[in-house]
Amino acid sequence: MHPNITKVLFTAEDIAEATRRMGAEITADYAGKKLLLVTVLKGAFIFMADLMRQIQGDVEVDFMAVSSYGAEASSSGVVRIIKDLEAPIEGRHLLIVEDILDSGLTLSYLQKNLRSRHPSSVEVATLLFKEGKQEAEVSCKYLGFVCPDEFVVGYGLDYAESYRELPYIGVLDPLVYGK
Ligand code: IMP
Ligand code: MG
Repeated sequence: MHPNITKVLFTAEDIAEATRRMGAEITADYAGKKLLLVTVLKGAFIFMADLMRQIQGDVEVDFMAVSSYGAEASSSGVVRIIKDLEAPIEGRHLLIVEDILDSGLTLSYLQKNLRSRHPSSVEVATLLFKEGKQEAEVSCKYLGFVCPDEFVVGYGLDYAESYRELPYIGVLDPLVYGK
């Protein structure tokens, strides 16, 4: 285990199992439809890559990047699009793929923004959901795990751009971000 991780919450095996389950649900729900995964960079890129390979059917991917917390471990509430989708999404079935739903401010902004472009549908798949933290109204259809209210890293999730490479998700030692 990495020395700055105090506890492993979800092992690589736990994550693989959740990803398979979510992939099967998505496969069934979108049968006969063409699906576009809207991946929120950077945190969701590893999850998306695994989830996409568990979906059977017509599936494409595009990427968006929005401003996140930077080197702070709490939400600023300010969302800014840093990279937008490559193609128009009018009439398409979108599935926003997120790493973690914390305050929900990022997702709520994204949902509103994407809906204004007139897609046929917009749903959300998030690997982690921090219970009781939501400040904004968000509907999330596919969920990996409910997560305790701690700052977690690994499997794409970072602190100041580090720890994304860990194959598991764990709690970052608060000493690292000075709390
Ligand atoms: P929200 O807008 O508060 O829901 O936060 C969304 C984004 O904040 C996520 O996509 C993550 O990039 C980041 N984030 C929130 N909580 C954590 C955490 O515990 N570890 C790492 N990143 C986090
Ligand atoms: Mg992030």
